[in-house]
Amino acid sequence: MLLLRDANTPAAVIRREDYSAPAFWIDTVHLCFDLDPAKTRVLNTMTLRRNPDVPAQALRLDGDELNLARVLVNGAGTSFKLDAGQLVLENLPLEGRFELEIFTTCAPAKNTKLMGLYVSNDSFFTQCEAEGFRRITYFLDRPDVMASFTVTLRADKTKYPVLLSNGNLTDSGALDDGRHFATWVDPHKKPCYLFALVAGQLVCREQRITSRAGKDHLLQVYVRPGDMDKTEHAMTSLINSVIWDEARFGLPLDLERFMIVATSDFNMGAMENKGLNVFNTKYVLANQATATDVDFANIEGVVGHEYFHNWTGNRITCRDWFQLSLKEGLTVFRDQEFSMDLCAEPSARAVKRIEDVRVLRTAQFPEDAGPMAHPVRPDSYIEINNFYTVTIYEKGAEVVRMMQTLVGRSGFAKGMTLYFARHDGSAVTCDDFAQAVADANPDSALAKLLQQFKRWYSQAGTPRLTTSTHYDAATQTCTLNFVQSCPATPGQEAKEPFVIPVSLGLVGASSGAALPLQLQGSSAAASDSHLFVMTQAAESITFENVTEEPVPSILRGFSAPVIVDFDYTDAQLLKLLANDPDPFNRWEAGQRLALRSAIQSIMAAGPAASSLDAAFISAMRSVLRHPTLDAAFKELVLTLPSETYIAEQLDVVDPQRIHAVREAMREQLANELAADWQWAFEAHCQNGGYRPDTLSSGRRALAGLALNYLCLAARASGDAVWPGRAYQRFKDADNMTDRFNALSALVHTGHALATPALARFHSLFKSEELVLDKWFALQAGCTDRGGQVLPAVRQLLKHPDFNIRNPNRARSVIFSYCSANPGAFHRADAAGYVFWADQVLALDAINPQVAARLARALDRWKKLAEPYQHAACEALKRVAAKPDLSNDVREVVSRALAD
Ligand code: PHE
Ligand code: ZN
Repeated sequence: MLLLRDANTPAAVIRREDYSAPAFWIDTVHLCFDLDPAKTRVLNTMTLRRNPDVPAQALRLDGDELNLARVLVNGAGTSFKLDAGQLVLENLPLEGRFELEIFTTCAPAKNTKLMGLYVSNDSFFTQCEAEGFRRITYFLDRPDVMASFTVTLRADKTKYPVLLSNGNLTDSGALDDGRHFATWVDPHKKPCYLFALVAGQLVCREQRITSRAGKDHLLQVYVRPGDMDKTEHAMTSLINSVIWDEARFGLPLDLERFMIVATSDFNMGAMENKGLNVFNTKYVLANQATATDVDFANIEGVVGHEYFHNWTGNRITCRDWFQLSLKEGLTVFRDQEFSMDLCAEPSARAVKRIEDVRVLRTAQFPEDAGPMAHPVRPDSYIEINNFYTVTIYEKGAEVVRMMQTLVGRSGFAKGMTLYFARHDGSAVTCDDFAQAVADANPDSALAKLLQQFKRWYSQAGTPRLTTSTHYDAATQTCTLNFVQSCPATPGQEAKEPFVIPVSLGLVGASSGAALPLQLQGSSAAASDSHLFVMTQAAESITFENVTEEPVPSILRGFSAPVIVDFDYTDAQLLKLLANDPDPFNRWEAGQRLALRSAIQSIMAAGPAASSLDAAFISAMRSVLRHPTLDAAFKELVLTLPSETYIAEQLDVVDPQRIHAVREAMREQLANELAADWQWAFEAHCQNGGYRPDTLSSGRRALAGLALNYLCLAARASGDAVWPGRAYQRFKDADNMTDRFNALSALVHTGHALATPALARFHSLFKSEELVLDKWFALQAGCTDRGGQVLPAVRQLLKHPDFNIRNPNRARSVIFSYCSANPGAFHRADAAGYVFWADQVLALDAINPQVAARLARALDRWKKLAEPYQHAACEALKRVAAKPDLSNDVREVVSRALAD
């Protein structure tokens, strides 16, 4: 009799401390696929041997939704059993190598989870990370089992002319019945999560390159036939990636052939399968007519990211999935550095840094303070797919960045070299990485503090750095006092102090000058910037010969992922905004001023209003009109902190109040700076021939922001000129950035011209799926004015172009509303939450991974004011009550509801 798992049985918790080495090693794998959408046959022939370090035991191979037809050991039948999805073989040879042959079938056309082998637009794709390979064949589906793969693909030649897998093509040819085959051999051992195959009607852009070392490589970008004109930027990004990794870290391309393939059905951004990266089309396809500057920048970053995984992730992989940040944090750090190094001007580097920190603070800080908080190296999970988080990725990258700060840029490169010398070809842990960086820099602060530093891997939560200063004019000394603390997180009540690298400086409170820093006890000033490495719960440092009252500039460049509490006066912040030599803190000062004013207005009695004072407005005007500052930097300064970021600063969150106050602030900026916005628009709207470089994209961003404010002011005054100009620009723009910014200005301000503009946009781009995603997302993310967004979203779900099975489309409508539009989502009538619950349940039946991401939209429900809190809790309970919920969604909602 078939035993079904009781729906109420809690799913198993996987714990890091339970790690044990595999009982068997798999040396070689030969996979032979007969590709058919309805029923694909997979013949898997492996050679295995026992791991001598582990007591003799049964072989347990993972499998999921497979139909098993045959199992042979050394060519003969054998006894086996199926236990909780695993294929269990008890009577295997005790000594030496043996061959195991497993024949299974699966149904790619029915695979809506997009894990394992699936069909998208009539082509075959695979996605195996983290545990998708078990949906293709029975295997030891864990990253510490690394094998040599040979893959033979067989398929109909007209339907699937292109047959790809990892490594090198060694054989191909025709078969009977109009079929053909291709055999691929991967020269590198790999864990099965890096396996990939692709089969379908695809075309490719190719480029041959010669590395510094003189080796020739073939680079290819595969797309659907109509998309060739959108592949140039991805190819350029790939070439830049190859060059950069060799130049900065001495890491060359280790393959003759490196392929990128785009698919429009993909759960994530992209995947680093060895030699055969599979990408969401969103991170490959771009030309000036269809993609914005942000898309171009994202493509560069993601192409780099996946390419850099070839070393950090593939050559050295993770011992187990708790070590995920070993590859992800490090590779995000590498792609961030890559994008910064490609910037021509130092100011563009600062802009990139600010953008990265903004992501960290609006997404990771809330995660770290909510029910899903987990350390960079988690201790347990139920569903690993839920741990591809901003903590693992972005906070993990900050941890690597702090290591670089503590050992210096060249010290870090030495650390990388030692890491590869020690561990190339193996599956290791986060400890191994940190140890290598420390050992390569024995005299560094990192080496001295390594054990304590590693608390960044084990303790969750965002540390708070409370700072105060004391200036003594008589002795000309300035003391900075620091106290660090970290709030409790689920399962971690008390925290030990972190190692916090605090980059800081002093700015003259009256002169605005960068003051020279002479540490007490040292004979002379070293420079005007100092790295203070904090290790205790409370510490102070004192500077001497401080000739005027200083304003402290703390955590320059965001040198650690912490919250800085300092009781700045407005005057001090205005000083930093105008004078701090550190562009990050200059931006930060403006954000603090805006945030403070927002919070005051939110807390005040009476209707929502803006209370930005004249000094702030005039400071913003000075930045906007500044003769030398970058347009991109100006755009960041003139953008108010997001509603989500404001909400994080409050103990009790009324999303409607936050939304109303922020909108009032935007209106005030729009009205009081009207002449300046006009100037800014006129001065930045012409940019010559389109190029997605940082300089001209900054100009377009600022012109876009200006247009948005001008339309907002027009809304209040009834003026028709600026909406008219926006419509004109929308029609005439020669690039998607300008066109979309103009459309957004009309849509967000709710102008009557938005309707014809949206209709025109749709008909212009009806055959461009990525552009349609923008069209859907803009409407679902539209500024709410009295509750009109939800009914519009419900209509969008009925639109003929909507398809919930396509993750990009589902994200563009459902996530844009539930996760990115707090002012529209949190409704007093609870209708937003009802919609959310409906969509989580609908998606869960199709694609649990995507559903679980949506489920996280209510993570912070306990902070909500009434009536929101109660209604959100009801919605969560309704989802949790569904008996056959996936592990993915169950883990998220039960953590949210736990007390
Ligand atoms: N490893 C991928 C990356 O970050 C992300 C990914 C995870 C993609 C799981 C698919 C599935 O580069
Ligand atoms: Zn990655």
